[in-house]
Amino acid sequence: MAASSTSSFVVVANRLPVDRVAVAGGNSEWRTSPGGLVTALEPVLRQHRGIWIGWPGSSIDNEAMFEVDGFKLKPVDLSSDEVQGYYEGMSNGTLWPLYHDVVAKPAFHREWWDAYVRVNRRFAAAAAECAARDAAVWVQDYQLQLVPAMLRELRPDVRIGFFLHIPFPPTELFKQLPWRDQILEGLLGADLVGFQRPGGASNFARLVRLRLDHKTHRDQIRLEDGRHVAARAYPISIDFHRLEELAMSSSVQARTDEIRSEIGADRKIFLGVDRLDYTKGIRQRLRAFGELIVDGAISVDEAVFIQVASPSRERVQQYVEVRDDIERWVGRINGDLGRIGRHPIHYLHSSYPREEMAALFQAADVMVVTPFADGMNLVAKEYVTCRHRNDGALVLSEFAGAADELKQAFLVNPHDINGLKESLLAARDADARDLTRRMRAMRRQVRDNDITSWANAFLTDLGGRKLRV
Ligand code: G6P
Repeated sequence: MAASSTSSFVVVANRLPVDRVAVAGGNSEWRTSPGGLVTALEPVLRQHRGIWIGWPGSSIDNEAMFEVDGFKLKPVDLSSDEVQGYYEGMSNGTLWPLYHDVVAKPAFHREWWDAYVRVNRRFAAAAAECAARDAAVWVQDYQLQLVPAMLRELRPDVRIGFFLHIPFPPTELFKQLPWRDQILEGLLGADLVGFQRPGGASNFARLVRLRLDHKTHRDQIRLEDGRHVAARAYPISIDFHRLEELAMSSSVQARTDEIRSEIGADRKIFLGVDRLDYTKGIRQRLRAFGELIVDGAISVDEAVFIQVASPSRERVQQYVEVRDDIERWVGRINGDLGRIGRHPIHYLHSSYPREEMAALFQAADVMVVTPFADGMNLVAKEYVTCRHRNDGALVLSEFAGAADELKQAFLVNPHDINGLKESLLAARDADARDLTRRMRAMRRQVRDNDITSWANAFLTDLGGRKLRV
C-alpha cells in the first residue's frame, strides 16, 4: 500500500523492521528482521506513527514508500556491490569487530570505505526526502555514522539524533581506524549522540577533544560554528508489558508445558539465545557445560543445554568460521557425552517467532548470556520479562551493557571458563528464595525502565518530543 511521503518523525536504520525473504514456490514475504535494534525500536515507531527508512535485506524492484503491518516504510535498495562493500565489508568486517574490543581482527579496505560513504549518502538523501519541515530524524547504529553530517548539509532545519546500539570503543582502539576523523565528523552532525553506557559517551567526547580539538564540558561538545552537540548514555530496553502479556498468554503457557515435557519434566534446562556471532561467547559457555558433565557435576539425565543460534551475516568469513567452530564443539560434546535419547546440547540454527521464544524463556531454569562485548543484550531483559513467576536464574556477562542494570544476575567473566562453570552450578543450585529475590529486583528494573522511557528520555532531550504512553 502506498503511504504519505513525509513525516515529523523519521527513523533511519540499516534494516527495515521487516526483511523481504524468499519462500517456497518462488514467492517472497515480509518477516521480522533479526537483532536487538528492531526489537527495541519497533514499538517506538508503532506508537509514534513515523516513517522508517532502511534496507529490506534483499533486492526489491523499487524504492517507493509502502505500509506493512501499520508501519510506513521507505526502502533503500542496495546493489550486490553495495551489500558487499558497505554491509558485509565496512560495517561488519571493519566497524563491528573494532567496536567489539577486536574480538575478531578488523580489516581495513579503502573500497569498503568508499562504499560506506556512498551508501550513507543514499540514506541521508532518503531521510531528507521523508522529513517534514522541522522534523526529528533519529539515525541508528554503526552502519550509518556519516548520515548525521550528510543530512545536516541537506536539511539544516531538522533535529538530528543518533543512537549507537553497540559499544563505542576506547580511544586506543578507535584510533586504528584510517577514517577515524571522518566518522567523528559524521556523528557530530547530530544534535544529540546517544550511547548504551556512560563509558561510550566519554570515549567519544575524549576523541573529539583530542583529535578534532573541540571544546567539551561534561556531556556538551562545542563546535567552531557555535553549535552544541550533546553525548550521553541512554541504556536501551524492551516493551516489557507487551512481552509479559505474551508470556502469560494461554498459548505460550501451553507451548512451555510442551517443551518441558519433551525435554523431561525433571531435567534442568540451560538456555542460550543469540545471533550466531563471535562476540557472544557461545563456544565458551558450551565448553563450560561440557566440562561440568565430564567432571560429574552435571548429568545428562538431569540437565540439557538448549542453544538457539540464529543465522547471521552468513557471507562474512568470520561468521562462517565461528559457525564451523561452534558446530564442531556441539558435535564433539554430543558425540563424547551423549547417549541415545540423551543429547547434552540441543543446537538449533534457526530464528523463531516471539511466541516460541517466550515459551523457551519460560521453560528455561538457567538463562546463559556470555558475550565478550555487547552494547546492551536485550535477550537478558527478555528472559527476565518472561519470568512472571519470579523464578529462574540469569547468568550474565559483566561485559554486556545489561550488567549495569541487572545487578542481581550471576555475573561472569566469559573468558574465565572455571568461573563460568562455578556460576552455572551456583545458578542451578540457588535456593528458590534467593532466585525470587533476584528475579523480583531485575524485573522491577526492566519494568521501570522500559522502551518507552528510553525513547522518551532520548526524544525529550532531542527536542521536547514526548511519546504517547
Ligand atoms: C545488532 C546491531 C543491529 C543489527 C542487528 C542484526 O543488534 O546493533 O544494527 O541490525 O545486530 O544484524 P544484521 O547485520 O542482520 O542487521
